Amino acid sequence: MSNSSLIPLIKDYLKQEMTLGNWEAVAPETLPPEPGDVKAYLAKKASAKKPVKKVESEPLNKFREPFRIGSGSKEEELKRLMEYALGCRQCALCQTRSNLVFGSGDPEAEIMFIGEAPGEDEDLQGAPFVGRAGELLTDIIEKGMKIPRKSVYIANVLKCRPPMNRDPQPNEIDCCTPMLACQIRIIRPKAIIALGAFASRYLLNTKSGINALRGSFHTLRIDGMAIPVMPTYHPSYVLREYTIEVRRKVWNDVMQVVKLLEKSKEA
Ligand code: URA
Repeated sequence: MSNSSLIPLIKDYLKQEMTLGNWEAVAPETLPPEPGDVKAYLAKKASAKKPVKKVESEPLNKFREPFRIGSGSKEEELKRLMEYALGCRQCALCQTRSNLVFGSGDPEAEIMFIGEAPGEDEDLQGAPFVGRAGELLTDIIEKGMKIPRKSVYIANVLKCRPPMNRDPQPNEIDCCTPMLACQIRIIRPKAIIALGAFASRYLLNTKSGINALRGSFHTLRIDGMAIPVMPTYHPSYVLREYTIEVRRKVWNDVMQVVKLLEKSKEA
């Protein structure tokens, strides 16, 4: 194997170690001094005993009392919920994340955006949609819908980053979505925009794909509320498929929400 063909392997290996928080493995002084040593280095690393990472104070899947919404303000109840979420050890993602990404925005928001799961930037900063997809989402909100980003609330189906940005797994969704449901019950938004298939499928309890769901309103019934939900494409998908057609569809979807809220104010 040539040295150049080893480079992607090394990159993958280092990324994996970083994801696991194994900083010792990616520290520059532990890198092989000569490219020729790479094979031996990787073999030695693979056979070396991994240091035990002590991030947990509680066992995984520990039984938890469900969170109960109290009588505080929306801001206070969201803060209590975030503290509850910080203690969550129900799935293994708490072991590999850097930060919990609880959600951000106005607790009194009329519109909630719900994405899939934190990516690398969000994991590092502890805030949702702060990477490239986040920049596009900000443009959709501020340039398209003409409202400040800080006036909406943004959350995700998962609160912890799945390693290497893989898809959320069913057990992770089961563990995490009760917290999302509490966020919705506290905020009581007038409309939700579901970004992509994972958010749309959870909110609408369906297995349908995003193409079938987007473009028209659906209803989320929760706590005596009937919240209109507009599924649309995830900003990451829009970045991958940056065509006029895709952008026009997203534009149509979000503008339907703007019009709905305008109408509800006129009534
Ligand atoms: N993608 C998501 O679904 N959520 C984020 O917070 C960032 C990227």
